[in-house]
Amino acid sequence: MDKRETFYITTPIYYPSDNLHIGHTYCTVMADAMARFKRLAGYDVMFLTGTDEHGQKIQKLAEARGQKPKEYVDAIVEGILELWETMEISYDDFIRTTEPRHEKRVQEIFLKMHEKGDIYKSEYVGWYCTPCESFWTENQLAEGLCPDCGRAVEKTKEEAYFFRLSNYADRLVELFKTTDFLQPESRVNEMLAFIDQGLEDLCISRSSFDWGIPVPLDEKHVIYVWLDALSNYVTALGFPELPGESMEKYERYWPCNVHLVGKEIVRFHSIIWPAMLMSIDAPLPKHVLGHGWILLEGGKMSKSRGNIVDPVKLIERYGVDALKYFLLREYTFGQDGLFTNEVMLNRFNSDLANDLGNLLSRTTAMIDKYNGGIVPPAGVAEGPDRELRDLAVGCGEKIAAHMEHFRFNHALEEIWTLIRRTNKYIDETAPWVLDKEESSKERLHTVLHNLAESLRIVSILIYPFMHTTAEEIRVQLGLGEDEPEWADAATFDLMGGQAVRRGDPIFPRLDIEEEIAALEAMGGAGGAPKEDLPPDIPYKEAIDFEDFAKLDLRTGVIVSAEKHPNADKLLVFQVRMGRETRQIISGVADSYKPEDCVGQEVIVVANLKPRKFRGLESNGMLLFANDRDKYTFAFTKARDGEVVS
Ligand code: MSP
Repeated sequence: MDKRETFYITTPIYYPSDNLHIGHTYCTVMADAMARFKRLAGYDVMFLTGTDEHGQKIQKLAEARGQKPKEYVDAIVEGILELWETMEISYDDFIRTTEPRHEKRVQEIFLKMHEKGDIYKSEYVGWYCTPCESFWTENQLAEGLCPDCGRAVEKTKEEAYFFRLSNYADRLVELFKTTDFLQPESRVNEMLAFIDQGLEDLCISRSSFDWGIPVPLDEKHVIYVWLDALSNYVTALGFPELPGESMEKYERYWPCNVHLVGKEIVRFHSIIWPAMLMSIDAPLPKHVLGHGWILLEGGKMSKSRGNIVDPVKLIERYGVDALKYFLLREYTFGQDGLFTNEVMLNRFNSDLANDLGNLLSRTTAMIDKYNGGIVPPAGVAEGPDRELRDLAVGCGEKIAAHMEHFRFNHALEEIWTLIRRTNKYIDETAPWVLDKEESSKERLHTVLHNLAESLRIVSILIYPFMHTTAEEIRVQLGLGEDEPEWADAATFDLMGGQAVRRGDPIFPRLDIEEEIAALEAMGGAGGAPKEDLPPDIPYKEAIDFEDFAKLDLRTGVIVSAEKHPNADKLLVFQVRMGRETRQIISGVADSYKPEDCVGQEVIVVANLKPRKFRGLESNGMLLFANDRDKYTFAFTKARDGEVVS
């Protein structure tokens, strides 16, 4: 019987609607670091991730490509698995919601909720946000749009099953008020305010499309994708029990220690999920932690906006560990943070190349040069030795304290304080001077020993965050390839006699300007890929400012879009511009499907004289970027109805 304490951590299961970007990898990298940290600290860890494959969004995307939903998601899931392999993500299980082990158990959960008397059939009349897969009442909408993502919602009316979520409002309030179930605190207040608005029963089935798990006993309906998705956290462990199948994992790991989730899905995890578990009388997860978003200068990353940072490109250029280090060091858990190439590259140079890389190359070079490549044994401590030793052996405990609160950046900062102190120790003790006199050889040996010791401790401390680098440091220090022991980070003077093996610099210094140019050309932070630069079209004749000033440009948002009934190439848009909504027709049907345009922010030429296109009037013009035959919205982040000047 395994006596180790267990630790169960999950990431959200990602929609395989498109390849994942750096924002998605952020959560997985944090979960991976935590899982590795806990394993090193002696826990029996269960780290779960996966993909959320059902729902209207996926069905629509697949249909738009003329594919079956399963065929569509299979290709993307393959890419996600490859990404996690490239990023050396140490998950213990990967669950796909299309697997029978999951589907059967979700139906069981539905039945259990039904048996409890918590499910009834009625009709859903309200709004639905397909990108978020969430239901909204009229009152919850934000100026007619989805309050979570700001995109357009669809009016929905269909027969549906409902979950008596309202029955659980009091228990949820108590959960938030009396436990630390949900963190950070700011999210608790948001959830309390949400419940305070009146918690309505939740629609938990859909009958207007079929890409989902059938409702048991009524196969005209599929189970609402969030009910399906949230269940993954227990179905992966073998709950509910199925005949002949083991529930050993469930018994061992449930309740979960931490669900790590992005801030916009906290509501599903801290209201719907616990209520579902209450309904089936299962224990609740111990914690739901909401993290912030990684934003780009233009706002949130999104494929439709064309501003995606592709983790694979960064890894190919700088390595997995550099990217992991950056994500964990730069951002504060719970808060949004800005991504720019410049900030990332500066971190690489200062922390990885200058501090850590230099320390390793200086230490191994000096052990080579001054002691024939052999780490000397411990000597008599004097001068700054004790300070270095105390800092080094005390670091592990400080990291553990930060990790309790998911403060990855503080944990790394502690390690870098030690790294910088060790670099300073080299300057203070000046081994090159000690080498000159026979009488200071013993002191030189002690200094070299202390440097190797400090780096050995660093190699253990960074292991959860960047294990390949840790392993490389250990190999260069002659420590072999075995996984380190966390406890060894709290002891000094373990080294002596190892043969160092100098290698190439682990993080070569980067020329920042050159790298920024290269990343921009590659589309690292959202620019166009180099081979796909727009054609070199000569500019039109220059115009006077007065000519330009005749244009009245305004911002708008597309609130509905449909095909022109009499023209294949035309789309008919209703565009909201502040107080007014206008009909505008554009010849972009080859570039956009109507459903992909709704919610799009646009720039409108507002004073173009009205014109009829095949019988329908167009009142203005939308601006597009025209890349050969393909049109892309010239979008804006401003509120609609503003003047563009
Ligand atoms: N499928 C649901 C989750 C179901 S969990 C039972 C989902 N999927 S998602 O692919 O849209 O998002 C997954 C996670 O990625 C969310 O936690 C979301 O916050 C996170 N991120 C997506 N973009 C992000 C950033 N730009 N920055 C940080 N995290 C972001 O929601």
